[in-house]
Amino acid sequence: MFGRLNHVGVATRSIAEARGHYARLFGAAAVGESFDLPAQGVRVCFVDAPNAQIELIEPLGDASPLAGFLERNPAGGQHHLCFEVADLDAAIRDAVSAGARPLGEPRLGAHGTRVVFLHPREMGGVLVELMEAAHAGH
Ligand code: CO
Repeated sequence: MFGRLNHVGVATRSIAEARGHYARLFGAAAVGESFDLPAQGVRVCFVDAPNAQIELIEPLGDASPLAGFLERNPAGGQHHLCFEVADLDAAIRDAVSAGARPLGEPRLGAHGTRVVFLHPREMGGVLVELMEAAHAGH
């Protein structure tokens, strides 16, 4: 049901400041341009690691869902894991029957495909994002 790890979400107060750190670790070419996802209340920047991406996320606006996380984790930190699935609706049904609890309805994610988050309480304390892969099995 769950496919490959697509990215690790990392919350930061400032993508502008974090970019330099990741450019030193992975090379400047690995750090993408940042862009806003107003519907989700975040600014996003992807870093290409050799086998997966790191998704830097910064609060966008006062009502950002990241505000509470950064209050509890003032230095930022690991926020979620994102796994690819071939069929999001089927994966949600499987996850629910395994005891997981989706947080709301699927919506458009940072890669332009549908995503849903699963509550960390039933996921061993880890906020999990399921992302419909653009091409199954890529
Ligand atoms: Co994500």
